[in-house]
Amino acid sequence: MAYADQIKSVKDYIKLPFVYNHWYMAGMSEDFSQTPIAKTLLNRSIVFYRTQDGTPVAMQNRCLHRSFPLSEGYMEGDNLVCRYHGIRYTPEGEIASIPCQKSLSQKKLHRYPLKEVGQFVFIWMGDETEGMEDAFPDLSHLADTNFRTFGDFMLLEGNYLLMLENLNDLSHFAYLHKDSFVFSEEFLDIPFTVEKRNGGIFCNRIDRDPARVVKTLPPHYHELAEGKPIERWDGGIAVTPGIFTGLAPSYIGAEDDPDRMVLNQIINHYVTPETESTSHYWWSMSIDYEQNNDMFCEMFKGILTTGFDEDKWAVAHMQKLLDKDHIEFDEMVIAGDQAGLLYRKVMLDWVIAEHGEAPKSA
Ligand code: FES
Ligand SMILES: [Fe+2]
Repeated sequence: MAYADQIKSVKDYIKLPFVYNHWYMAGMSEDFSQTPIAKTLLNRSIVFYRTQDGTPVAMQNRCLHRSFPLSEGYMEGDNLVCRYHGIRYTPEGEIASIPCQKSLSQKKLHRYPLKEVGQFVFIWMGDETEGMEDAFPDLSHLADTNFRTFGDFMLLEGNYLLMLENLNDLSHFAYLHKDSFVFSEEFLDIPFTVEKRNGGIFCNRIDRDPARVVKTLPPHYHELAEGKPIERWDGGIAVTPGIFTGLAPSYIGAEDDPDRMVLNQIINHYVTPETESTSHYWWSMSIDYEQNNDMFCEMFKGILTTGFDEDKWAVAHMQKLLDKDHIEFDEMVIAGDQAGLLYRKVMLDWVIAEHGEAPKSA
């Protein structure tokens, strides 16, 4: 049966196969050093380390000889030595030496391209094509010194698409996040727009209620905002299957006011499947105001961490239920699902582009 016909509910949706021809987050820069470590990404065990000049390297973690994990090995210069029988691998994945043997094998470890931007390292696990570079989303703010970027990591006990559905859904803010982000129910009455943009779905809600918006601004902007029209966006777009860019700028002043101020907030969510039922989840917030205000940034990080813990909690509960509950089920659709449903179609397009219309065995 075609993938499109299989999806009757979120339970079917999270069974879609992983898509590899996209960039995913592999970790924070600080995760990687000259000591090899292993991470499982999209069901593949990968060994990561840095060469002596700091270049990050990612290769299959399974030694070509007897499947020993190379992450348990050690570095000799830039070469990774397998701890079991001592085969040495270059950072290109080639065999540098085999103990007690003069001839070398031409076999190679699979090496994965990486890209380090700001404090983050991204990985390409699919076919290496010319289009691969162009497929890297615009994340220039992560390396832009006008922005201060902070963030965190958590492991999700759930399929990555449960989190992507959450990110494409503005209607849970006033409930799941009622204790953290303090959105009121009236916020949900603001009409939202949904449009296809850059291959993803851009969903946005613009709040122009001065009393509500002013509460989201740091205190010393309150005076500046007095008597002026102010607005705050809560929008976002899934730019790849595993990278979501949230845009939440606040504007002080009318659109045609030459002194109109904008306080930019770009929040990225990076969800990289670990297995079908666990996911790596990083988030980062980039702001171009209050960059030097450590206290503000700490406080902001605390609020965001509390909020994203609520998403983590919801994802884990849904996965647990879906694993155990096998009833016939017709999913109900509500008005707030518009972006999420369109996103399912985009996801389906990505799956079909890589795996075809239907599973091979069908
Ligand atoms: S398993 Fe790695 S050298 Fe034998
Ligand atoms: Fe959320």
